[in-house]
Amino acid sequence: MTKSPVKGLGAIVMAAGPGKRMRSKLAKVLHRVAGRPMVLYAVELAERLAGEGVVVVVGYQGKQVKAAIEADYAANPRLGGDRGSAHREKGLTAHVTNRASQPPPILIAEQPEQLGTGHAAMQARAVFARARSGPAATYVILNGDTPLLTEATVRDLIRLHETEKAAVTLLTANLRDPAGYGRVVRSRPGGKDERDGQVIRIVEDPDATAAEAELHEVNVGTYVVDGPFLFEVLDKLRPQNAQKEYYLTDIVALAVERGLRVSAMATREADEGLGINTRRQLAEVERVLRRQICARWMENGVTLRDPATTSIDADVEIGQDTVLYPHVALEGRTKIGEDCLVRSHTRIADSLLGHRVVVQDSCVIREARLEDDTMVGPFAHLRPGAVIRRTAKVGNFVEMKKAELGEGSKANHLSYLGDARIGKGVNIGAGTITCNYDGTRKHETVIEDEVFVGSDTQLIAPITVGRGAVIAAGSTLTDDVPADALAIARAEQVNRPGWAARRRALPGAEGRDGLRVTGLRAGALRPAKARHVSQKAGAPMPKPRKAAVAKKRAGREG
Ligand code: UD1
Ligand code: CA
Repeated sequence: MTKSPVKGLGAIVMAAGPGKRMRSKLAKVLHRVAGRPMVLYAVELAERLAGEGVVVVVGYQGKQVKAAIEADYAANPRLGGDRGSAHREKGLTAHVTNRASQPPPILIAEQPEQLGTGHAAMQARAVFARARSGPAATYVILNGDTPLLTEATVRDLIRLHETEKAAVTLLTANLRDPAGYGRVVRSRPGGKDERDGQVIRIVEDPDATAAEAELHEVNVGTYVVDGPFLFEVLDKLRPQNAQKEYYLTDIVALAVERGLRVSAMATREADEGLGINTRRQLAEVERVLRRQICARWMENGVTLRDPATTSIDADVEIGQDTVLYPHVALEGRTKIGEDCLVRSHTRIADSLLGHRVVVQDSCVIREARLEDDTMVGPFAHLRPGAVIRRTAKVGNFVEMKKAELGEGSKANHLSYLGDARIGKGVNIGAGTITCNYDGTRKHETVIEDEVFVGSDTQLIAPITVGRGAVIAAGSTLTDDVPADALAIARAEQVNRPGWAARRRALPGAEGRDGLRVTGLRAGALRPAKARHVSQKAGAPMPKPRKAAVAKKRAGREG
């Protein structure tokens, strides 16, 4: 169920840092978690909490971060807040990527120099001042690198902030390994006074004393802050610390100093507070999220033969009673219907599968569409623009690109079908190749309904094969084929009776195994000229072995 945004709430997502500890050319917040740039988790959460009052602070690779947010929004406009509902209404045949894209209702603040989280939050002030909604009464501030954070938890945090009438309310987590995080320092923990155990400040990891470093309660980087207090106190921050940065976390001590209330709440599950600073943390968060996603689909009626090795991206949708075998990867915006079967070692990315689709082992399927009751694989490669119409079948070692295989048609073995439109009830023989590329440009192959393409056929595009035509196996077609015609385009066969036997009889021809031929010279086995002619052409029989010759002659003469 989707809840409506909180009235009077503004949200700030901090996503400007480079993420040095990732040791990457890519800004940290653009690294993907379960297939989505990490920043999108925070942005989307912010949107659900604050509606149109969201400011994302960007800086390092800011253009790319902004583009990632826009791309996500374009692919997935928030229709009444329910992600992907439009898709479900239209059914699986309507792909979602071509929607008219409106700019997201998200405001961007630039932080050209990354001087710390306090400095980042400060950049949002001017944007809120200019915003239609104006400054907010309360702000929720989110780090861009904490994708496991849930909406329910942050809503609890906001409620706590309100009931406690706090100036600052922060989310904490109790981590077994708190290294790298800001530690939550409380006054006289375990003391008897009512004011004992209150949060008094946050100390960052590089600034922590040995005793503080022992604390396991960490700051998650999620804050609810009173509006007027926030933008006033941010001006008071000073970069006097180990990192010479403006720490947002210092607002806690500043509130305490003024006698204002600071509240704190711990996450129910420690995992929820995991932040990503390093590749190891990236892998850890990825693992947790994937487990959650698998659990969700199992709850929705999908069978996972081995959830531990099944990888399902966050935006994937799967219908009831579909079965996924071990080592299946479903990526991007893939949507799979009901009662499908996906066997091991198959990767399906950004593709649409109807109902009762069977994908055998070891297939790669990208930006393809498989309609109801289709079968693919094993070892099939469906590249962007492959469309498999109802009940059609694609077999092993078949590659397709920008190619449509019509209803009930089959391409069962060893083929390349590119830039092709293939009609209904067509049989594509083993080893068929659409020669779509002339070295400069791509050309189209059209194969109309009910055509039979014999094995090992090359179709040199552009070319059209008319309805009901038959292509003889081994043909290389350069010209269109009229409807219902037989096309044969190959050299005629030559049979040389006895040739093999004569070769075997040559002195020194037999190898150790009786098969290998050594020392043969070209021409040694060539029969007389006249005998080159095919029997089909009505030529005389070529000369067979001696005994047989005598016998034949006798017969003929007799
Ligand atoms: C921060 C907190 C720390 C907390 C941890 C939780 C501070 C000072 N420390 O530390 O107490 O335990 O998160 O994960 O806030 N960013 C900017 N501009 C900047 C610097 C950072 O936008 O100038 C953004 C980053 O892109 C990131 C977020 O702020 O999304 C947090 O920054 P990061 O450097 O990861 O902070 P931590 O050291 O993890
Ligand atoms: Ca961090």
